[in-house]
Amino acid sequence: MTEQTPYHEEQELDNNTSANTHFNDILDQYISRRDLIKRTTNGALALALASTVTGYANAQSSTVQKSTSPTAKRPEKLTFQPVAKNTLDIVTVPEGYQVNVLYKLGDSINPAYADWDDNSIPSGPSFQFRSGDCHDGMHYFGLNSKTKHMDDNISSEGLLVMNHEYINPTFLHPKGPTKVNGHRPEDEVIRETNVHGVSIIHIKKDPKTQHVSVLKDSVFNRRITATTPMDFSGPAKGSSLLSTLFSPKGLQTRGTHNNCGNGYTPWGTYLTTEENFIGYFQRDAKDDEQRQPHEVAALKRYGLKAGSSSKYEWDTAIGQIQSQDLYDRWKANVTASNSNQDYRNGPNTFGWMVEIDPFNIKHNPVKRTAMGRFAHEDSACRVVDGAPLAFYMGDDSRGEYIYKFVSDAKWNPKDTNAGYKAGDKYLDKGTLYVAKFNQDGSGQWIELTYGKNGLDITNKRYPFSSQADVVTFARLAADSVGATKMDRPEWCTVHPENGEVYVTLTNNSNRGIDYPTDAANPRSYEDLYAGKKLQKGNVNGHIIRFKEKNDQTTDTEFQWDIYLFGAEAGMASNINLSGLTDNNDFSSPDGMAFDSRGILWLETDDSAYTDVTNCMMLAAIPGHVGDGTKAVSSNGQETIVGAKINDDNLRRFLVGPKECEITGIAMTPDNKAIFVNIQHPGEESASFDKPSSHWPATQADPSNSTARPRSATIVITRKDGGLIAGE
Ligand code: FEO
Ligand code: CA
Ligand code: CA
Ligand code: CA
Repeated sequence: MTEQTPYHEEQELDNNTSANTHFNDILDQYISRRDLIKRTTNGALALALASTVTGYANAQSSTVQKSTSPTAKRPEKLTFQPVAKNTLDIVTVPEGYQVNVLYKLGDSINPAYADWDDNSIPSGPSFQFRSGDCHDGMHYFGLNSKTKHMDDNISSEGLLVMNHEYINPTFLHPKGPTKVNGHRPEDEVIRETNVHGVSIIHIKKDPKTQHVSVLKDSVFNRRITATTPMDFSGPAKGSSLLSTLFSPKGLQTRGTHNNCGNGYTPWGTYLTTEENFIGYFQRDAKDDEQRQPHEVAALKRYGLKAGSSSKYEWDTAIGQIQSQDLYDRWKANVTASNSNQDYRNGPNTFGWMVEIDPFNIKHNPVKRTAMGRFAHEDSACRVVDGAPLAFYMGDDSRGEYIYKFVSDAKWNPKDTNAGYKAGDKYLDKGTLYVAKFNQDGSGQWIELTYGKNGLDITNKRYPFSSQADVVTFARLAADSVGATKMDRPEWCTVHPENGEVYVTLTNNSNRGIDYPTDAANPRSYEDLYAGKKLQKGNVNGHIIRFKEKNDQTTDTEFQWDIYLFGAEAGMASNINLSGLTDNNDFSSPDGMAFDSRGILWLETDDSAYTDVTNCMMLAAIPGHVGDGTKAVSSNGQETIVGAKINDDNLRRFLVGPKECEITGIAMTPDNKAIFVNIQHPGEESASFDKPSSHWPATQADPSNSTARPRSATIVITRKDGGLIAGE
């Protein structure tokens, strides 16, 4: 037995070698410094925006959050005691709050299956009925126990739906991941594919104590894994690009994986994303020779060069429990005369937004191809009654883009609980756009439609011959229309009061190096980790926000500023541009969502500031686009920054255990329970018998020094049963 060869994720990063040199575009559109100062410091812009905000609030309905929740008021300021930065091996929360560990890796969701045991790890197949690993994006759907449908006013019973992004193989298997004579053992591979995907768990909350528990015998409890059959829908359905041996007509595929951030729809379904999907495939060194040049270019643009090995080497398993075909499908090679006889197109069947109706236990999940194919991180829907829906989405890799999908159909609240039928109506027909951020704070949504903006057979990036081509190779389409290369777009969220959209840009070690800075990605600086390791580029990340020009979901122009810059409190003021203090400094924003009241919850997935503090969650009460002024970063780049924050409107709410990421945000409609995911505690452990974290066992017993670390969902409530972050 040998340890599995480590996978190098670098192959998935920095694949945007397009020549859409946004820098030149920005110079072309550069407006004079004097003009910029005039527009941002004399208040004209702020005033104009303020009036449209009011207009919006009066004239239009609301975002998802507002329309679906009781009307708790947003507090004027944050009053909980800020949690101090720390490197403890527990989840720390403010005084008066309590943490319960709800759902851990391996927990059984079916009474027929015994619970996880650190010393006797259950079989691979049993994980179809157990919690997956690396919990990530998450949403709470209130459940009406009579109708068995969603009810947004119910906090006492609901379906909690969450992603399991990837795995920490060190602790998933009895003795870590192994390989025998060049093959991954099948039981390990089945365990790994089963702990990917999505969980749907039925929960109850006691209205008096606020205690939350999982109903282990509910029919709603189920797992969607990297093997579950899925249907395609939208423009790429039936395309030869999706044709495989499994589904020669390109109508179906098996599984979803690397599900990171999430979204949800106003009709009550969950959206799961397929982020770093590409690394699960293997390609032979000589496979390029079997393919057309445009096929090779597309594979490279998505990070799957010839000779790539697969992340977990599922392709090496020998099928004795399951069919061999389930392992062969991870080899993306031309091995037959036609694409319907091999898995050369396997990678094209991932990278989509996937719709799951948690209330419909029979129907296959649906991959909604109209929303484009890229490293989907998250999505946020802006809902205005009677108007087309807008879904904002990020592509998380260095130098990738922000997208918007606008439905053709106008939102009709009567479609609530219409499940996949509503999905067919709103998610299959619409327009995909990509964002271009200009130096002066304006921006454009550029349409990615076959036959428009040069997206046709003559295109130099890719010879597009249909909308199926455009959505399947959305990155190539976006390259050719000059979209702005961003610092790794992660989560998106919509302000429930004014419809403004926030996007986390987690960091970019390459900004100011291969990617020139620009106003929307302005910082490039150096920082020391643990006094030794030099970190470069946009080390700590930032959060950009924008407002559609006329407050319409269909607008093709917007106004932006940078709401918040991550930084260490002690950094120079031209790096710490938001004025963070010890009560709220953070690095690498990732998870982010507004609650129904307009409190913004912000989570970190960091490795730049972890010499000082573990990853964290903060609460914020932001203002609006244009409430700040211009600024110049340490590297001399001009930008537009929101109002400086203070302790009243940004505070640290939680710090996680060692080596974890904090992610996933869900709240019951009564705002009395907030769910958070603790992903991969102890991730840097040397081996299965030397864990560097013992969480979640440490939450009950901080002295525990033996337990395996496990990703888990926690629920935080107030000891007095009050509102989370309420006054
Ligand atoms: Fe899965 Fe972009 O974090
Ligand atoms: Ca540092
Ligand atoms: Ca993420
Ligand atoms: Ca991340």
